[in-house]
Amino acid sequence: MDLTAVALLVSLISVSLSADNAGGKVRSCADVRQFYSGKGFTLNGVPQSEISGEHLRICPQGYTCCTSAMEETLSNLSRREFEGLVREAGRSIQASLNAQYRTFDTYFLELLNGSERWLEEAFVAALGDLYRPNAGVFRDLYADLRRYYSGASLNLEEVLDEFWMRLLERLLKASDPETASLLSDDFLECASKQTETLRPFGDAPRELKTKLVRAFIAARAFIQGLNVAGEIVRKVSQVPLSLECNRAIMKLVYCPHCRGLGSVKPCINYCKNVMKGCLANQADLDTEWQSLIETMLQVASSFGAEPSMDTVIYSIPVRISDAVLTMQENMEIYTSKVFKACGDRGEEGTPSSISEEPKKKASTVTALEYKPSPKSAARLEVQVTDVSSKLKEMQFYWIQLPSALCSGKTASSTNADKCWNGITKASYLPEVMGDGLANQINNPEVEIDITKPDRTIRQQIMLLKIMSNRLKNALDGNDVDFQDTSDDFSGSGSGRCEDHLCVRGRSPVFGPKADRPKLSPYGPENKRVKGSGNQIQPSVILLALLLATLLLRR
Ligand SMILES: *[C@@H]1O[C@H](CO)[C@@H](O)[C@H](O)[C@H]1NC(C)=O
Ligand SMILES: *[C@@H]1O[C@H](CO)[C@@H](O)[C@H](O)[C@H]1NC(C)=O
Repeated sequence: MDLTAVALLVSLISVSLSADNAGGKVRSCADVRQFYSGKGFTLNGVPQSEISGEHLRICPQGYTCCTSAMEETLSNLSRREFEGLVREAGRSIQASLNAQYRTFDTYFLELLNGSERWLEEAFVAALGDLYRPNAGVFRDLYADLRRYYSGASLNLEEVLDEFWMRLLERLLKASDPETASLLSDDFLECASKQTETLRPFGDAPRELKTKLVRAFIAARAFIQGLNVAGEIVRKVSQVPLSLECNRAIMKLVYCPHCRGLGSVKPCINYCKNVMKGCLANQADLDTEWQSLIETMLQVASSFGAEPSMDTVIYSIPVRISDAVLTMQENMEIYTSKVFKACGDRGEEGTPSSISEEPKKKASTVTALEYKPSPKSAARLEVQVTDVSSKLKEMQFYWIQLPSALCSGKTASSTNADKCWNGITKASYLPEVMGDGLANQINNPEVEIDITKPDRTIRQQIMLLKIMSNRLKNALDGNDVDFQDTSDDFSGSGSGRCEDHLCVRGRSPVFGPKADRPKLSPYGPENKRVKGSGNQIQPSVILLALLLATLLLRR
């Protein structure tokens, strides 16, 4: 090869390399310098005019204004910015979920408070100070309901059973003051076993249980769903970019600058392929996420269905008053039966003067009644519509995220042949990839090992499944925490509340009682009552009478 041939070759190469350079003249780096310092970086070492770009490792080689250091700096910047955008998008979803959580939580607790206040007012008004020593029975019921709702590991049916047992005990003792002090634990235990057959409270316990348990399971699962969904968004939005994704993002966002094409926007399909590649694992959340949202929408709409949630919550005082009235009406028959079954003192003086009086009035009995006002019905409807529309908005979040991140940042369709395609200003020919990891096998922009799904995201997909399962069960009135059957998901059938599925950060409303371990029909309080049985308070005796007179008057 002689010298002229070498010279020709060299000049050919340089002509081809400078093809982008208008007229072969060396271009100034003024634009890049301005852009670079605008990003807050020092201009030390930034060339004044284009240099040959063999050193570039991400951006296409050829004449460039970017040094190796600039390329690395911009690459790091592109990663921080992209991760910031993903987190930002996630934060707006989290904020929406949190707002819905707070709104629903407030609504539900206000219902419960209203229900409890109503019950208390009705009893206090008539009993005054005499109500107080017995108020604990009712207060504990509401406290347990709140704790259950906030995620405590309680069996709601047991809570209700215990409540009726305690109420029965109080009423039994009050009905027969002469022997009240002689009522033993054995007797009371036997009496409680007889409630199934003797049904001292009539239908009230059963009617309360079926509807209340269902409503509480649904409300609790719903609030947990809002919480879990927000947590999942937070965790997934923090998953770091892969190295390959970082390269692709750099090429998409800042290589045009290095190439002297800073004003050229990326081609839309090019951007989509980069995003779909980078967010491939995230898109795999789609199926389970949609299913969760779908189930939550169903649960939300169940709140308004008959009997509506406010009706159910306010049925607590209604059913309790029903129960007490039933008990009063049937006190003689009931006590004689229960003494026959559980003790030998039934045959003696059955009709005491005390149980006679309420009986005379029994014909005029009217119970408490709750009719939802138009205002409360409207409030519930607003709740449901509000949360539903917010949930619908985020139903396709994961699948829409790649396009959302491209929107506003890409070339318009009229410039489809004059956009940044990763190499130069032209059109972008590859087709747009499908969603999710498995569809990225031929992604031309992001190299991904589709056999290595992101672990964090897999875990979140699992949590979505568990939460959906919980909500579906709630729709059927089942609380998965208390299912005996084992299911596919570890921990969910064990009766404990895994901490990522619990609503956290709220302490029980009523203090010391909250730590009571296991619910037994004869709790410490009952023992105490028995221990001091010889000085049974007149208030206990009066309670039944006054309850009756109070309720009769309504
Ligand atoms: C870019 O980020 C990597 C990894 O965080 C870091 O080691 C490197 O120093 C950064 N380079 C520049 C120029 O900021
Ligand atoms: C409900 O009542 C409790 C105390 O009885 C109170 O601490 C709480 O703030 C009330 N909640 C709402 C939502 O009204």
